[in-house]
Amino acid sequence: MTASRRLPFQQDLEAPAGQHAFRQRLLSWYDRNRRDLPWRNRRDPYRVWVSEIMLQQTRVAAVLGYYARFLRRFPTLEKLAAAREASVLAAWSGLGYYRRARMLHAAARKIVHELEGVFPATSRDLLALPGVGRYTAAAIASIAFNEPAAVVDGNVERVMQRLFGRSLSQREVWVAAEDLLSRNRPGDFNQAMMELGATVCVPMEPLCAACPVVRFCSTRGRGSRNPKAKSQRKREICYALSCQNGEVLLLKRPKDAALMPGMWELPEIEARGPRSSDLQLRHSITITDYRVRVTRTETPLVSGQWVPATRVSKLPLTGLARKILRAAEII
Ligand code: ADE
Repeated sequence: MTASRRLPFQQDLEAPAGQHAFRQRLLSWYDRNRRDLPWRNRRDPYRVWVSEIMLQQTRVAAVLGYYARFLRRFPTLEKLAAAREASVLAAWSGLGYYRRARMLHAAARKIVHELEGVFPATSRDLLALPGVGRYTAAAIASIAFNEPAAVVDGNVERVMQRLFGRSLSQREVWVAAEDLLSRNRPGDFNQAMMELGATVCVPMEPLCAACPVVRFCSTRGRGSRNPKAKSQRKREICYALSCQNGEVLLLKRPKDAALMPGMWELPEIEARGPRSSDLQLRHSITITDYRVRVTRTETPLVSGQWVPATRVSKLPLTGLARKILRAAEII
């Protein structure tokens, strides 16, 4: 690492006194500003685990509703382990990245059947569970079991790069995070770092005036980019919604499909001129904005499987299928 020039009044983050002051300021900011999130009420490892898996690649605001519903459906590890995979996917439907749900389910079964129902309590043991990597293991171990293990996610990495004001490798970021970590309150410290990145030290225009640790920061908003939003691709996609005698025509995706294997969706049809009876909605997936047109028919336009409308909401539907069926007031 090359030394960077210090800003006026910048406190030294690499000296023990500076690190101590940093922890104090960050934690007292967190105590005053922490969001009231449901997994923060209790330090139940099962609840923390579910939240951390849902929060991978998904923002807090998008997770909240799913989290509450998932825990009502599977309030304990044992209930999750005893469930069928299709029920778990159904509860996950709409959150995306379904591999996370399959792994969560497989890990619940492993704990119940191979570990006598005892939740692993160290980051080392947590790493042996399906779907648990270094980030998730450290998050659960620190939040639920107070283990001094630092967490680095995208938010924390950005905070670190700005604090140190130079390009740190992944390894350097993890080392710096371990160095800064509060040994007394590791779970709160980790959550405070993530919270700072999500609410203050945001990607485009950081809110430095509201930052509790600005005095330690080498960049203070310098070099923040404000590029035009990445241009989204636009696509149109059409589906058939065929209903007959209280049944809906659906398709199950192949088990070996790369995306959303085994999940249910509406049959896609070729684009056709818009009709006034079509249902129209929008759906965004990563960099593509879809304009979705849904043609309602009684006679099916393509082959599929008839499913009683009363059963549809129990199926593992793709997020888009769920959105369409809700818009059409079928579920
Ligand atoms: N992102 C992932 N886990 C989080 C947590 N526990 N608190 C805040 N942001 C998070």
